[in-house]
Amino acid sequence: MKKIFILFAAVAMYACGSNSTETKKEEAAKPVVADNSANPDYQKGLELVAKSDCLTCHKIDEKVTGPSYRDVANKYSEKDIPMLASKIIKGGTGVWGNLLMTPHPAVSQADAEQMVKYILLLKK
Ligand code: HEC
Repeated sequence: MKKIFILFAAVAMYACGSNSTETKKEEAAKPVVADNSANPDYQKGLELVAKSDCLTCHKIDEKVTGPSYRDVANKYSEKDIPMLASKIIKGGTGVWGNLLMTPHPAVSQADAEQMVKYILLLKK
């Protein structure tokens, strides 16, 4: 148990100070809803999310700067995918409070939609 805690603390410290894609991926993959993690949409979307800067502002179950991905998933459905994708690209504020999501102009609409599909698969 002690060992696990030390390991966790080390990972947490490492994650805070680094931009490592691998670390972010692990962090994002932890509280996975088992049924969906094998879904190709989940895997492709998670990969894109981990490669971008999303996880500096979003966690799965915890509000950071942005809303938790679980909360986003519970609020929206399939029909909202194009709207959410363009919000990721353009950035925005006002839905979850007055903090700003920075724009991501380098992300394509298709990639952004793939990211949203991953997020929606976190629905509980
Ligand atoms: C600088 C911090 C930041 C980064 C980086 C960021 N977000 Fe956000 N995100 C936010 C904030 C703040 C909100 C809430 C915006 C609002 O209230 O309208 C948000 C909202 C969202 C929403 C919900 C939008 C809505 O209208 O309900 C989605 C989906 C989302 N982000 C996905 C992403 C993805 C995918 C990435 C990576 C490409 C990303 N975010 C990067 C801060 C960020």
